[in-house]
Amino acid sequence: MPEPVCLPAYLSARSASESIAACGGLISAIGDANVDARRLRFADPFGLALLGATFHMVRQQGRAVRVCGLSAEMSGYLERMDVFEGVELVDCVPRQNQRQNRGDALVELTRLDSQRGVDDAAFRLAHAVVGHIPGIDPNEPPDEMSGFTAFDRLVEPIQYALSELLENAMTHARRHGYANACVWVACQYYPKNDMIRLGVVDNGCGLLATLRCHPELRHERHLDAILTALKPRISCNRDLRLNSDSVNQGVGLTTTCRIAEHAGGHLVIVSGNAIHDTSGRSGLLADGATWQGVAIAIECRRDLLPTIRFRELLPPLDAQLAVRLRFE
Ligand SMILES: Nc1ncnc2c1ncn2[C@@H]1O[C@H](COP(=O)(O)OP(=O)(O)OP(=O)(O)O)[C@@H](O)[C@H]1O
Ligand SMILES: [Mg+2]
Repeated sequence: MPEPVCLPAYLSARSASESIAACGGLISAIGDANVDARRLRFADPFGLALLGATFHMVRQQGRAVRVCGLSAEMSGYLERMDVFEGVELVDCVPRQNQRQNRGDALVELTRLDSQRGVDDAAFRLAHAVVGHIPGIDPNEPPDEMSGFTAFDRLVEPIQYALSELLENAMTHARRHGYANACVWVACQYYPKNDMIRLGVVDNGCGLLATLRCHPELRHERHLDAILTALKPRISCNRDLRLNSDSVNQGVGLTTTCRIAEHAGGHLVIVSGNAIHDTSGRSGLLADGATWQGVAIAIECRRDLLPTIRFRELLPPLDAQLAVRLRFE
């Protein structure tokens, strides 16, 4: 029987290296994937999306996934988050028959495998996570001056960020030969500190593969690719097809990052062997960990979201593009 892979105590963006190293161990193991979950105490949406992606990829290789030693609390939580689809639980507290309806904002793990689902998923997940926030009523009448409700103000920036990240995951990798790339997304509201966290993880080609030939990329390294992708107006295909609908402006990641920062939060971006936290820390993942694809965590304060007008955060059209667009 193959050696079990131990999950860390924290499966989260804060312990990204350990989380990704464990997932990498499961993906590359030979034979069935045996998961020792005795240490696991906490999983955030980033960790859940990673685990969901990992279990899915292992099962796609025709290998079984067996999880042992989950605590009662973690097994109930992960069960509700739909992480265990097709997974065998051994020596864990018994599965619950009924999905508990916890009021404190659980939003299930969702997998997308085509671009068609992006808008619906972004809409559904943003509404679901905001709908779980106590005191926010989706049916309240809109403000007479602005026409918006408090619910709309919270939903808008989250929906924008989700649709940009999902769109990126479903388009860029496919154009670079990863026709079967999927994306996993999970969201949660944490009432204790009034934070919203999202995790968006894909198993595509990663940032470096799409930006390798971009003139702004100084070194062919994963960390350089992450930093380049975050610059406004950088896109792998922006200058290729100006007359086509499919041209990208290179603003999705930049604007998502600005939304998180204006809402008192940050992004953690992992691609290949590199990690960048927009609040400071960046470098290589520890323990030789690598993620084949892009894995992003967003964290922001709920109370600041209504102050955000994301259209004002979009980078301005640069002079050259504006002139070309005007004359075409
Ligand atoms: N999930 C991903 N997989 C691979 N490459 C990605 C991914 N997300 C972003 N990138 C790379 O980072 C670049 C910048 O992303 P960004 O979302 O800012 O711009 P864009 O998608 O090109 O344009 P826009 O978002 O304005 O349509 C992309 O052009 C692509 O090269
Ligand atoms: Mg984009």
